[in-house]
Amino acid sequence: MSIPFLNLKEINLRYQNELRQCFERVLDSGLYILGKEVSNFEEKFAKYCGAGYCVGVGNGMDALHLILRGYQIGKGDEVIVASNTYIANWLAVTYAGALPIPVEPVLDTYNINPQLIEEKITKRTKAIFVTHLYGQTADMNPIINLAKKYSLKVIEDAAQAHGAKYFSRKAGNLGDASAFSFYPGKNLGALGDGGGITTNDASLAERLLMLRNYGSNIKYVNELQGFNSRLDELQAAFLSLKLNTLDALNNERTKIAEFYLSELRNVNSIVLPNKLENFDHVWHLFVIRTQNRDQLIDLFNKNDLGYLIHYPIPPHLQNAYKDLHFVEGDFPIAEKIHREVFSLPLWPGMPPAHCEKIIKLLKSA
Ligand SMILES: Cc1ncc(COP(=O)(O)O)c(C=O)c1O
Repeated sequence: MSIPFLNLKEINLRYQNELRQCFERVLDSGLYILGKEVSNFEEKFAKYCGAGYCVGVGNGMDALHLILRGYQIGKGDEVIVASNTYIANWLAVTYAGALPIPVEPVLDTYNINPQLIEEKITKRTKAIFVTHLYGQTADMNPIINLAKKYSLKVIEDAAQAHGAKYFSRKAGNLGDASAFSFYPGKNLGALGDGGGITTNDASLAERLLMLRNYGSNIKYVNELQGFNSRLDELQAAFLSLKLNTLDALNNERTKIAEFYLSELRNVNSIVLPNKLENFDHVWHLFVIRTQNRDQLIDLFNKNDLGYLIHYPIPPHLQNAYKDLHFVEGDFPIAEKIHREVFSLPLWPGMPPAHCEKIIKLLKSA
């Protein structure tokens, strides 16, 4: 029995009739960019997160970048980032013209270590990017306190954390502004690219509405040097529909994760993910760690089982950042994580027999 890493088609086929109706509705509307579907979704998603505003954009990377532009963070500024994050928020910082300042994560949770941030703050620091990696939020209270002390913006990268909670508040409503990706494989995924920004800051939201649309609110009148990054009507219609069942899908993910956690707890050669109390993990990914990753890769390949590595190379060692002159050993915790992580298959609707097969194999190995 071959097992995929993720079965997106199966997830979306659950909604096939309603998705077709969404398509018909958008087709019939004759309005395909920035119409009612986008504004309806924005309102619904802001409410879901508990935030005042949502601005739909083209993808998650643009969401991160536009937040920086919205706060006029750019050349000469520094932005704190995690050393082990997905590269998108480093790219957003450099795209805006600012400098990413990496901070090591907590090995136990893979999220940025609040204790290590203060020593990296300088006069040029403007913001702290906080990625909620794999579906569990970072420890936000100490980060928010630091940000208040130094007047910094806290920007969430919530691309992997739709519906995750930190002491009963949802990701997307924990910092000054939050970036979401609706890439098809995300917990709330479109059928193409999509992104969104949530915030309680009315003036930021107003700037973002212009920045995503050539810097313009009134056709052919340009207030700002903006971009073209709009969530499209069709994706917004799909996302509004799928948002209705996001919590149910997250619960399905949680059940599978709990099954893995209980069945694998005595397998000594792997480190299981650590779900913290008062944090509602939404299990975007189920990431284990092992010092024998090559053996595990062989085993999964031989048995035709899906897996992915999130991520094999930390941003500071990517060729893309060779001009920052980092070398191996600069961020040992991030490097260890990137060397040892291994993501097991997990998706809503994954058959229990699939989990059982993976568990059996890991136990026997
Ligand atoms: C943590 C994180 N940030 C940002 C992004 C970028 O999102 P997108 O692919 O929609 O640009 C992703 C998506 O892969 C992500 O996982």
